[in-house]
Amino acid sequence: MTATEIPVVDLGGGVAMPMVGFGTWQLEGQMAYEATRHALQVGYRHIDTATMYRNEEQIGRAIADSGLDRADLFVTTKLPPGNAGRVPATIAESLKALRTDYVDLWLVHWPPRSRNLVSLWQDFLAVRDEGLTRSVGVSNYSVRQIDDLIKANDGGRGGGWVPAVNQIPWSPARYDEALLAAHAERGVAVEGYSPLKGTRLRDRTLAEIAAKYGVTPAQVVLRWHLDIGVIVIPKASRPEHIEQNFDLFSFSLTPEEVARITRL
Ligand SMILES: NC(=O)c1ccc[n+]([C@@H]2O[C@H](COP(=O)([O-])OP(=O)(O)OC[C@H]3O[C@@H](n4cnc5c(N)ncnc54)[C@H](OP(=O)(O)O)[C@@H]3O)[C@@H](O)[C@H]2O)c1
Repeated sequence: MTATEIPVVDLGGGVAMPMVGFGTWQLEGQMAYEATRHALQVGYRHIDTATMYRNEEQIGRAIADSGLDRADLFVTTKLPPGNAGRVPATIAESLKALRTDYVDLWLVHWPPRSRNLVSLWQDFLAVRDEGLTRSVGVSNYSVRQIDDLIKANDGGRGGGWVPAVNQIPWSPARYDEALLAAHAERGVAVEGYSPLKGTRLRDRTLAEIAAKYGVTPAQVVLRWHLDIGVIVIPKASRPEHIEQNFDLFSFSLTPEEVARITRL
């Protein structure tokens, strides 16, 4: 797969989110730098980090050293809700560490205590209005919590009020058609995390499909995410894993195979 082949999701406002990204949780220090450098060399153009991962500085250095144009990259970071009282300071720290003037997506890492839900969201929208992030979203939110945000839009603010993305755990074992439909109805893109940790890679169905195409069960699971419309951000530290996880278009799954994986 080359960078230009990565399918994108339209987040509105001219923001296109590559459906394959590089996850960086638990990558720290020199490992975070080297793995991100390798991912960018392989062709990944979407990096997922968070204040909590303590690797924004290494990722910023990897991006700077890659020589890539900032405009060709999609960078996500996240605010720990414990920082809800210091939203402007937190985005400023992330941007400084990442060595950039803006991120492409800023997420609330997990829901704050409910009484803060709406006020935190308003602060997020203000950061977007300032141009420090191109889009805003949430992570680990229930549909009900998203609805609480939507309902609070009583000022009638138009498009762009609804979170662009909800980043949630996803894998064949967690497949939930109603949950996907609920997000689609609200115009919220689903970004899945822990796609591999959440999957029994030794499963016989996955092994059989992988053998048919000469790929690994991990590649089959990641390709399945794309085929059902879920953005996927596998993390890897080993170079061969980083490479494999980006090689998702040298094969394709039949609709029957997608359905078999969905049933796992
Ligand atoms: N919003 C949230 O609350 C939240 C929570 C969890 C994760 N996330 C995000 O989602 C990303 C992905 O989730 P995750 O890190 O939990 O888990 P993951 O990506 O599902 O799994 C990572 C593990 O899978 C291994 N692996 C990677 N590629 C492989 C391959 N091709 N074959 C076999 N094993 C492979 C990695 O090994 P090696 O490292 O040895 O290569 C690592 O042990 C995170 O990095 C983070 O960016 C977000």
